[in-house]
Amino acid sequence: MDNRRLAILLSGRGSNFIAIHEAIQRGDLKATICCVISNIGEAAGLRRAREFGLKAECLPSKGLDREDYDGQLVAKLREYDPALICLAGFMRILSPVMIRAFPSRILNIHPALLPSFPGLHAQRQALQHGVKVSGCTVHFADEGVDTGPIILQRAVEVLEGDDEGTLSARILEQEHQAYWRAIALVLDTMQDNGGA
Ligand code: GRF
Repeated sequence: MDNRRLAILLSGRGSNFIAIHEAIQRGDLKATICCVISNIGEAAGLRRAREFGLKAECLPSKGLDREDYDGQLVAKLREYDPALICLAGFMRILSPVMIRAFPSRILNIHPALLPSFPGLHAQRQALQHGVKVSGCTVHFADEGVDTGPIILQRAVEVLEGDDEGTLSARILEQEHQAYWRAIALVLDTMQDNGGA
């Protein structure tokens, strides 16, 4: 299998997307980004993708129900034939329409050590719970919210005096290290297995 094409889905600033792009540029991650798709036209990550000269498209989600949107997304993604679809701050819950179209091909990054603190505001949840260690998780997306099989995790110590901002920033540094490594692991495994 020599398809190492990545589709990136994002809704916001796109720092995880940029970290993946940089790992490819450095030669640490052997892959190509075949497209960056956002449901939000003004997403900073989409603008950066265009600046990098990547294929970048907005597929607006406003007013569409989950299944209808995901049907459009599946059709759009198929045009690009990605090996993996990397959710990088894509602020939508995927319906079974997406998950079943690309089984074991969709990766997500979450700013907590799953299965603790799934869903929104994971760093705030961690602080409210008083945990001493949190971190980030890269996992396969399944039909639940942040429930799929775990690929890689990185731990981050929660420090005395941390607030949501400081903890999020330290976790984000680890996210930027974790995501491309997890992608490399999955691509290499797919290759060893002789295809998708
Ligand atoms: C990250 O914290 C990621 O874990 C979560 O959404 C945030 C996206 O940040 N899923 P960015 O857009 O990649 O900077």
